[in-house]
Amino acid sequence: MFRTRRLRKTEGIRRLVRENQLSVNDFIYPLFVEEGEGIEKEIVSMPGIKRWSLDTISKELDEVVALNIPAVILFGIPTEKDEVGTETWNDNGIMQQAVRYIKKNYPSLYVITDVCFCEYTSHGHCGVLCDNDVDNDATLINLAKQVISHAKAGVDMVAPSGMMDGTIAMIRESLDQAGYPNLPIMGYSVKYASAFYGPFRDAADSAPSFGDRRTYQMDPANRDEGLREATFDDEEGADILMVKPALSYLDIIRDLKENFDRPIACYNVSGEYAMVKAAAEKGWIDGERVMMESLLSMKRAGADIIITYFAKEAARILNK
Ligand code: PBG
Repeated sequence: MFRTRRLRKTEGIRRLVRENQLSVNDFIYPLFVEEGEGIEKEIVSMPGIKRWSLDTISKELDEVVALNIPAVILFGIPTEKDEVGTETWNDNGIMQQAVRYIKKNYPSLYVITDVCFCEYTSHGHCGVLCDNDVDNDATLINLAKQVISHAKAGVDMVAPSGMMDGTIAMIRESLDQAGYPNLPIMGYSVKYASAFYGPFRDAADSAPSFGDRRTYQMDPANRDEGLREATFDDEEGADILMVKPALSYLDIIRDLKENFDRPIACYNVSGEYAMVKAAAEKGWIDGERVMMESLLSMKRAGADIIITYFAKEAARILNK
C-alpha cells in the first residue's frame, strides 16, 4: 500500500515536507488616503480598514512598519473630481502629498501608487470619456502625466490599474524620457470586471455613475485572454505582472507563473476580504484560519507577492 500518511504523522515531519510558506515579505498593504484633516473613518464593508488623512495616518504607518510589512500601495481620495481627473497629475494632489509624507517619515517603507482615474473622475470611469465609453488613447496621455507627477513626488513603484491598451509602453517610455529609467512598473495585467470590487468602490468613492467597466476590464469567463494581456505587459516592459482578483482566479495566477519569467503578484481584493470578515463575525467560519489558508492558496498557485487588506493581521501571526 502507498502510505502517504507517514509524512503527515507529526508537526515535525509536516514542517519538513511543507512545500509553500507565507512570509511577511510577500505582502503589500493597501492604504486609502483622503484629502482633508482629522480623518480616520472605518469602511463599513471592510471592518478594520480605514480612510486616513495625512495628519492621522502615522498611527497606521507606525503599525505597518512595526509589523515589518515591506510595502504599501496608495489609493487617493481627492476632494475635487472632474470629467478627466485633472487632480491625478496635480503635483500637490493627495497622492503626491502622501508619497512625499511617507518617504520623508518612513524612508524604509516601499511606496507604490495605484495609477488610475476612477477615484478622480466625476463619472467614476477609469479615464477620459467619449461616446459614453473610455477613450483609450486620450486616457494614455493623461496617464503619462499622472505617472510623472508620482515620480516627481518620489514614489518607489507605479501600478497602473485602468486596463487601457498600451499602458505599460506609454508609462515606460514617459518615465524613461523624464529621467526615471529605474522606476519599476507593476502592471494590473490581468484584471477582471469583477463583482468582488464592491466594497472598494465604497471605500474609494469610485463606483461608475453609469454602466460598468466591461469594455476595459476582462470577462471572468476568459483564461487564454489572460495570457495575451500578460504577454503584452511583459513585452512592453512591466517589471511585475499582477492578477486581480485572486481567489477566484488562482488558475490565472498559475498560468502566469508558468509562462513568464517575472515576479507574479495577485490582489486579494475588497470583496474577498469582506466575505471572510462577515462570515467570521457571524461565527460561521474561523476567520483567522480561513485568512491564512486563502493567502497560502495564492502562494501555492504561484504568487510571489500578495496585495492584501489582511497584511497586518497575517503579519501578526507570522511574526509570532
Ligand atoms: C481602480 C482600482 C480598483 C481596485 C483597485 N484599483 C477598483 C475597480 O477597478 O473598480 C479594486 C481593489 C479592491 O476591490 O480591493 N481602478
